[in-house]
Amino acid sequence: MHELAQTPGPITCVVGARPNYMKVAPVIRALRADAAAPRTMLVHTGQHYDVAMNDRLFADLKLRKPDVNLDVGSGTHAQQTAEIMRRFEPVVDASPPSCVVVVGDVNSTLACSLVAVKKGIPVVHIEAGLRSFDRTMPEEINRLLTDQICDVLYTTERAAAENLRREGISLERVHFVGNVMIDSLLASLQYAVPPSVVFAHNGADTVLLGEERGFGLVTLHRPSNVDEQGSLAQALAILGEISQELPLVCPLHPRTRERIERFGLWRMVDVRRMVVLPPQGYLETLGLIKDATLVITDSGGIQEETTALGVPCLTMRENTERPITVEQGTNVVVGRDRTLIRRCVAEILAAGGKRGRVPELWDGRASERIAAHLVPWLARRAEPVYA
Ligand code: UD1
Repeated sequence: MHELAQTPGPITCVVGARPNYMKVAPVIRALRADAAAPRTMLVHTGQHYDVAMNDRLFADLKLRKPDVNLDVGSGTHAQQTAEIMRRFEPVVDASPPSCVVVVGDVNSTLACSLVAVKKGIPVVHIEAGLRSFDRTMPEEINRLLTDQICDVLYTTERAAAENLRREGISLERVHFVGNVMIDSLLASLQYAVPPSVVFAHNGADTVLLGEERGFGLVTLHRPSNVDEQGSLAQALAILGEISQELPLVCPLHPRTRERIERFGLWRMVDVRRMVVLPPQGYLETLGLIKDATLVITDSGGIQEETTALGVPCLTMRENTERPITVEQGTNVVVGRDRTLIRRCVAEILAAGGKRGRVPELWDGRASERIAAHLVPWLARRAEPVYA
């Protein structure tokens, strides 16, 4: 007698915070394009919830509405992680997944991986193996732990496999597929919003930004730069100096805005030379990056996007988990070293700064490679094993 084949459970994809959306969008598209793939389910943990941090990016990326929103909101790391776990468990119980797909290194990534693995559900980590070797970064803890417990690890650069091997992870589980963030970038670049439109929408001083030799884009939100008054004041002082040579455009993360207010540091922002904007959508951000003379950032994703676009990037951190952007791309890790930053800015203004090349497999097809590996992998797991 033939048993009816069971419909496989969904591929449950998790997003939580802004940098997750551009990674998951092309993966869902690639899975949906594969007739052999189980259906996809999109779970949003609600770690980010503001319209500016969330809804606009979903629209820009044509990412479908989540099937479930866990609405966890903000909190301490323990509260946020625990709440995501508590609310994610009933979702997987109600609709047991074929696998859970997590991306990046935010609290949602780790929380959902932990829930799934303890229920025997395979976990797939996209952007595995990146390491800053700085355990004071919350994201480093999330990366280390997620990679330890997941079943399939997709990497963006070859060095990631060596990091994983050193941590005792079997390389059979590791697959170099390229960078899904660049899939989104290449698919969206033609729709990037020109900076002049962004400035006009925000009532920014286009005379200041239009007449000179361009602008610098600044995004800062890491705890190491913004959570302590001294560090934030130091960063703002350096930006103030640079802004006298090159006008700066600063879309402010809510965390950074709140800290500037709390520490009473608005007086350090010279509004004649620095244009402060609310968080921008994905297409606006791409437009700003593409046309910037230089970018100063502590974001992981923007280090990659500037390398892909060949725009000089100064990373205001002590380290990077994305070394390929330094070795091959346009990135220089500068910390808050005023002298070094001033020198790099001068070089960029004089001669364009460091040239780079686009890393291997950052070609817009990483999601296709993921689907081509994951779908047969899931099918093999579903096959009955006869003793
Ligand atoms: C999180 C990620 C970080 C990522 C960043 C991108 C972790 C540990 N950190 O940091 O890796 O680079 O997202 O933005 O997961 N807030 C709002 N509106 C929102 C979301 C947050 O106002 O929609 C404010 C709240 O005051 C909140 C603060 O921002 O307390 C920080 O949010 P949180 O999700 O804790 O971390 P991020 O700093 O955004």
